[in-house]
Amino acid sequence: MTAYSDAWQALEAHHADTQHVTLRERFAADAERFNNMHEILHGLLFDYSKNRLDENTLDLLCRLAEAADLPQYMQAMINGEKINTSEHRAVLHTALRLPANAQPIYVDGENIVSKVHHELNRTLEFARQLLDGTHAGITGKPITDLVHIGIGGSDLGPRMATQALQPYWQNIRVHFVSNSDDADLTQTLLGLNPETTVFSIASKSFRTPETLLNAYAARTWYRDAGLPDSGIYRHFCAISADVAAAQNFGISPDKVFAMSDWVGGRYSVWSPIGLPLMVAVGEKAFRKMLAGAHAMDTHFFETPFRRNIPVLMALINVWYNNFQHSDGQTVVPYSHNMRLFTPWLNQLDMESLGKQRTSDGQPVSCTTGGIVFGDEGVNCQHAYFQLLHQGTRLIPVDFIVPMTTIYGNHRQHRFTVANAFAQAEALMKGKTLDEVQIELAALPPDERDRLAPQKEFPGNRPSNSLLIDSLTPFNLGMLMAAYEHRTFVQGVIWRINPFDQWGVEYGKELAKTIEPELERGTPAHDSSTNGLIAFYRNCNAASKAV
Ligand code: F6P
Repeated sequence: MTAYSDAWQALEAHHADTQHVTLRERFAADAERFNNMHEILHGLLFDYSKNRLDENTLDLLCRLAEAADLPQYMQAMINGEKINTSEHRAVLHTALRLPANAQPIYVDGENIVSKVHHELNRTLEFARQLLDGTHAGITGKPITDLVHIGIGGSDLGPRMATQALQPYWQNIRVHFVSNSDDADLTQTLLGLNPETTVFSIASKSFRTPETLLNAYAARTWYRDAGLPDSGIYRHFCAISADVAAAQNFGISPDKVFAMSDWVGGRYSVWSPIGLPLMVAVGEKAFRKMLAGAHAMDTHFFETPFRRNIPVLMALINVWYNNFQHSDGQTVVPYSHNMRLFTPWLNQLDMESLGKQRTSDGQPVSCTTGGIVFGDEGVNCQHAYFQLLHQGTRLIPVDFIVPMTTIYGNHRQHRFTVANAFAQAEALMKGKTLDEVQIELAALPPDERDRLAPQKEFPGNRPSNSLLIDSLTPFNLGMLMAAYEHRTFVQGVIWRINPFDQWGVEYGKELAKTIEPELERGTPAHDSSTNGLIAFYRNCNAASKAV
């Protein structure tokens, strides 16, 4: 038996022994539970005491992490080894947030720390020129709007962080367009002036059709305004690992910002892909966000597993996913500005961990990637929280809650925080039948007996709380990096590669075949797909006839 399967089996046995113990009982038995089960890092408090686990569970989970060679994988990541084995690439998004004076890291003989800072400074300099008006449009007017065109990792990170950091916005409006549905670009451009608009085309590959379609449509919009092609260099810039392809689109070399192949798309907000964020919030705030992420990296790489926030987050997920067979996880920021956090996390977590083969091509031996969903609190309390409280499924929650507001309405903010804490407590404690019976004592006995079971809350529903002292760039950087590392650790434990995404390729290939068939030819698919294509043709023939 290997150390890995040994650790796995020990956890299974431990689960069988302890599954009857409820969270209520755990808290009643140990007044120090919170004290022993929370960590504080800078402005972040991570409380994991409301989970179905004890010190033994944590020890066994840490043993599993050791047996899965997590320490070696972490070291390999730091060293720039090619741990993205299916694409033969290093994984070095952490290098993007290293300080300029950090020890060199060599990838294929090149010191990438100086390369990172060179490209970061170039991108920040362009952002500064846009903000202070040094870089004006072709007719000499200062730029008022930046439209960022990208999808997936080239969109979600900067879009989410730009929204989250609304109080730091500067003097240029930043918009995001990702969808090939023409409504997205059309609506975004309504009211914008081509003379004062800059487009940033973001695509690591510079081959993603959604992004290229939108980029060509944006260029047509610019030309249709009667502006000359000689002005494209002032109105279009690009971020890509394929600098030549971006230049072929017509973007001037000094407006192409390079990213490296060792930055995965969903880990790329820290690279020049963050340009719209740099423009939205300015250099100082962007650098603080990098510093926050770096602080989490340092904690992750240097802290023993038992006190290591991202490792604990990952191990707790593994505990529910593989040993308690949870049905998903919901991540709920109690912050309107963080409302895009969960869509960002969807890609990070589910594109990374939705794999059924191990890194060496074998079938996985356990359930991998969980279903991660969520929405902003308190809104989701009035939507899907009923299922969390009284449904039959096990769905652990991450509550993310800023402790202060800068908008000044402390009463509203206090109400919002109180709701987050109350939901976590209610999920954990539940309400017993006896307690409900007492509450309903005034009702006639028949009515009470009918109603009481429906008002019973099973409780024992787990959650983490991640509290930040305020929603600053530094704290946002820490939080994002914590979830990135959580994803990596889960990938190591499940023995899958969290840095590739072959699964999204097949649908893309089929779309290439189907697109021309929507216009002409005899489609030869299954009867359903053929029927859908026929319906499209009918609808479009009808709309042309009108
Ligand atoms: O969805 C697949 C994917 O490759 C993502 O991993 C990536 O973030 C996105 O498409 C966009 O890719 P690119 O930046 O190359 O346009």
